[in-house]
Amino acid sequence: MSGILVIGSINTDISISVDKAPKIGETVRGKNYLVSPGGKGANQAIAAAHFGKDVSMIALAGNDSHGDLCVNNLKANGINTDGVGRCDTNTGVAVITVVGGDNFIILDEGANKLVTVDYIKSKKDIIEKCDYVVFQFEIPLPVVFETIKYVKSLGKKVVLNPAPIYDIPEEIYKLIDIFILNEHEAGQVLGCDVDVNNAEAAVSQIVKKGIDKVVITLGGEGSVYNDGDIIKKKPARKVKVVDTTAAGDTFIGAFCTSLCNGKDVNEAVEFATCASAITVSRMGAADSIPTYKEVTEYMQNN
Ligand code: RIB
Repeated sequence: MSGILVIGSINTDISISVDKAPKIGETVRGKNYLVSPGGKGANQAIAAAHFGKDVSMIALAGNDSHGDLCVNNLKANGINTDGVGRCDTNTGVAVITVVGGDNFIILDEGANKLVTVDYIKSKKDIIEKCDYVVFQFEIPLPVVFETIKYVKSLGKKVVLNPAPIYDIPEEIYKLIDIFILNEHEAGQVLGCDVDVNNAEAAVSQIVKKGIDKVVITLGGEGSVYNDGDIIKKKPARKVKVVDTTAAGDTFIGAFCTSLCNGKDVNEAVEFATCASAITVSRMGAADSIPTYKEVTEYMQNN
């Protein structure tokens, strides 16, 4: 038994780059219009598959052309889609405005909203075959929390990326093995601002909630994580930032795959840092995630 299961979202991303974000009521010219497969869940699954693991996904897409695009893309990336259902509503859509490399995202969750605990439990055979189950917050929150309890009772390792962030019940923290979040999400978890200056203290505080591995990603400032009781910092690789969409998702897929392949946490963070550096140098979501070969070449040359 070996592998990663992602229980999460599938979206089509509609992106346009602008030099300056518009004000309310204003129209601005944009460029680089792109319709591409995305969704935090799907991106994380694709990243894990690129970096060499058996990956399955449990999710819902709509019975529309966006659903065809996204599900075919998962298949093309070697992901087991037996757990991906289709339903009579729209596939999730993310409207993304890229401003100077960074982005705003507006999400219509569509089919993602219809994922239920019963639907997930009906795919128990898929859950049983994996070691790690990766969650985000783009399917209904109560479903995420209930399913975390369920997969934990089956002996699985739980990875949570709490994005987009909402309040997390205290009892859930104890069930998380790997918690990967950005500084804004960490701020909400702790009820204070988190940035590069206090991220080490933030990691220590979150670890105390009963979590084995915590990583706070800090964009261009790198990441901070715990190696057992020791808190460590990893600087970001310097690259020309084109579009940060899916950088966090790439990090998560790369980090989990590395651990699953027997690497230690330091090696996993190094690999994930390099993988996400390549993602930010490209436009788009799932399509910007590098291959294993691209990451290893980058590591040799940089
Ligand atoms: O993390 C990036 C993703 O967030 C995009 O692909 C978009 O679909 C949103 O879900």
